Amino acid sequence: MPRERPSPPPFEPESLERSLDRYLVAGLVFMALLIAGFVTYKVREPTLRSDAAAEQQTTYRDIGSQLFETNCSSCHGKGAVGGSAPVLDAKEFLKATSDGQIQNIVSGGVSGSDMSAWSLAYGGTLTDEQVRQLATYLRSLEPDAPSVPAWRQGKR
Ligand code: HEC
Repeated sequence: MPRERPSPPPFEPESLERSLDRYLVAGLVFMALLIAGFVTYKVREPTLRSDAAAEQQTTYRDIGSQLFETNCSSCHGKGAVGGSAPVLDAKEFLKATSDGQIQNIVSGGVSGSDMSAWSLAYGGTLTDEQVRQLATYLRSLEPDAPSVPAWRQGKR
């Protein structure tokens, strides 16, 4: 009967090996978390963007509404219902006029009329962003805008 070979001393002390295992497990867990994080982000990303856009839209509308009451309602009426100046809460106006056109009219005004140029670039008091906020506000009226065929005449 052969003599049992004496087992060699372990290559590494057991405590070191346990510690290495712990680091390995920690690394794997970290990697798994990282991957899960990326996947979650990727899944949520599209709605994050549209949520942010919707939120900005709401903020712009609210600020635009305040700007309108302060600067425009004396002629265009509270809530844009018209006055000495055209009704802007009118289906006909909003359907026929793009956001860009509204911004241009508000920025540059209508020469030879009481509608002055509002943007800083043309000597007015509003920044381009405020002009966009006004356009966003007017656009937000569109879904409930009544039909006012004579909107250019002012009073509904
Ligand atoms: C002093 C009066 C007055 C004020 C204040 C005023 N507007 Fe006007 N606005 C007018 C008149 C008058 C017109 C019509 C001009 C024309 O076509 O002869 C007009 C036209 C417009 C139009 C184009 C409508 C169309 O006939 O196609 C828009 C849009 C508009 N105004 C937005 C605004 C906004 C936004 C403000 C506030 C920043 C404002 N206005 C402030 C008098 C005013």
